[in-house]
Amino acid sequence: MQTVTVDLAERAYPIHIGRGGRRLLGDIVNSIGDVHQVVIIADERVAALHLESLIIGLQSPPTVVTVPAGEASKSLDGAARLFDRLADARIERGDVIVTLGGGMVGDLGGFVAATWLRGVRFIQVPTTLEAAIDASVGGKTAANHTSGKNLIGVFHQPAAVLIDTDFLSTLPQRDYIAGLSESVKHAAIRDPALLHWQAENAKAILSRVPAVLTELIARNCAIKADVVAHDERERNVRAILNYGHTVGHAIEHLLGYQLRHGECVALGMIAANRLACARELLDQEIADCIADVIATLGLPQRLPRALDAAAVAEVCKLDKKVRGGSIHFVLLRDLGATERVTDVSDAEIAAALSVIQPRD
Ligand SMILES: NC(=O)c1ccc[n+]([C@@H]2O[C@H](COP(=O)([O-])OP(=O)(O)OC[C@H]3O[C@@H](n4cnc5c(N)ncnc54)[C@H](O)[C@@H]3O)[C@@H](O)[C@H]2O)c1
Ligand SMILES: [Zn+2]
Repeated sequence: MQTVTVDLAERAYPIHIGRGGRRLLGDIVNSIGDVHQVVIIADERVAALHLESLIIGLQSPPTVVTVPAGEASKSLDGAARLFDRLADARIERGDVIVTLGGGMVGDLGGFVAATWLRGVRFIQVPTTLEAAIDASVGGKTAANHTSGKNLIGVFHQPAAVLIDTDFLSTLPQRDYIAGLSESVKHAAIRDPALLHWQAENAKAILSRVPAVLTELIARNCAIKADVVAHDERERNVRAILNYGHTVGHAIEHLLGYQLRHGECVALGMIAANRLACARELLDQEIADCIADVIATLGLPQRLPRALDAAAVAEVCKLDKKVRGGSIHFVLLRDLGATERVTDVSDAEIAAALSVIQPRD
């Protein structure tokens, strides 16, 4: 097992990572103090696979509430249904909520934990790579609004994050690979050595060799934890985590039914690098190196079908990171060095997009 700490003074918490990590749940709950009840909010699909082995370590049986798999559950209606169950179970301020599943249930369960009784403690047990290296760390909780994703939410840090790498073994390969995109992002913005390590260990990463998977997750959690510790509420440096996400979100908005989030981010990183090269901010060699790692890890380098550049630019302007009408982009200057720009033109977006358009 490896442990990474999110260093947030009185809100600091550990992230435990490794095979069989589920066995630590009982100890973690006990370390929180006088807990009367544990509620597990679980993604239905994940519950069918892993709930039984998670709860073995608890001293008394938890209340289990399942949520249908899929982003549609991450709504205020979904939260309301969970509040009803918490009320039925008479959950008190000192009790603990455990979320089991990917980022969807982590965000929704975290939101419910943050708002029920003005905040109860919660433990994240992420079961996707996306959630293990990104969504479960940093305390952003959310529900979607009909007008956009993640528009409702609060910051509420978990008491602990528990990542049992065995749980990730049932993840379909395409979803696993999509999660690797956030790892390429972390490496590019913060840790060049991790980028090279990923290239060298691609085969072991792709076949999920347990020790390699634990190292991959721990290194990524350390990067995310460090960024969050410097800027918990995204007032400045945390925004670098949006690298690849401006164009990525626009692609997801336009083609989300065809592509995973991580696949969109991979394409968004390639487009952002093209833009940075065009501005002579970034060397082509580094852009090529990142594109190579993206390809080696099995992530896409081109869109499945051509997108209209004007439509992409329009959607970029709808992104919630837009302030005062200008698009905010995180660009790379070098491996591990970023720059935020706000003066990106539609023509630049069109030029950047051309490198990820399908070959005819
Ligand atoms: N809070 C944050 O900082 C943050 C960061 C990134 C993403 N997010 C959010 O996370 C969500 C995406 O997370 P995700 O990619 O984990 O998607 P997800 O939670 O929807 O899970 C994807 C699919 O995988 C299934 N699944 C989960 N674990 C499995 C396992 N071990 N074996 C087999 N199937 C499994 C789920 O049932 C689901 O069908 C989005 O809602 C996004 O907004 C939040
Ligand atoms: Zn992302």
